[in-house]
Amino acid sequence: MTDYSLLCEQMRSLAEGERHWLPTLANASALLFEALPDLNWAGFYLMEGGSLLLGPFQGRTACIRIPLGRGVCGTAAGRDETQLVPDVHAFPGHIACDGASNAEIVVPLHRDGAVMGVLDLDSPVFNRFTEADRAGLEAFVRVLEEEIRWKGL
Ligand code: SME
Repeated sequence: MTDYSLLCEQMRSLAEGERHWLPTLANASALLFEALPDLNWAGFYLMEGGSLLLGPFQGRTACIRIPLGRGVCGTAAGRDETQLVPDVHAFPGHIACDGASNAEIVVPLHRDGAVMGVLDLDSPVFNRFTEADRAGLEAFVRVLEEEIRWKGL
């Protein structure tokens, strides 16, 4: 069972010294990739020009741009709603970046109340993500929203 309150604390400490979005999201993806078992990808897509652009991540190379409403990420961003997907092969329009992925969770990230991007985690294990992961990851994203300064975007 992942200790999400510890992860939230660690994320706050990491952001304290420097709140720029780039190192903060890079460290957030590294922290999650290391702390959560059975992940093959952890990272961010950010809104840019009306679609999602690949941001800092850990894992294999991934799709660079995802239209709103497409795939799990585009659905989460378009609806402003976490998508918890036990089996990505059963998700209409799922975008397969890494053939090893079987489960996925995507949490929207906001700036001043508007969707700024998404946190995306992929796993090779079917049913990998639970309601506890959803609650923990949403809390983790709230920390990012409070700490990040969106300079230069
Ligand atoms: N599977 C995602 C695409 C991004 S990769 O998993 C990193 C989707 O369907 O939106």
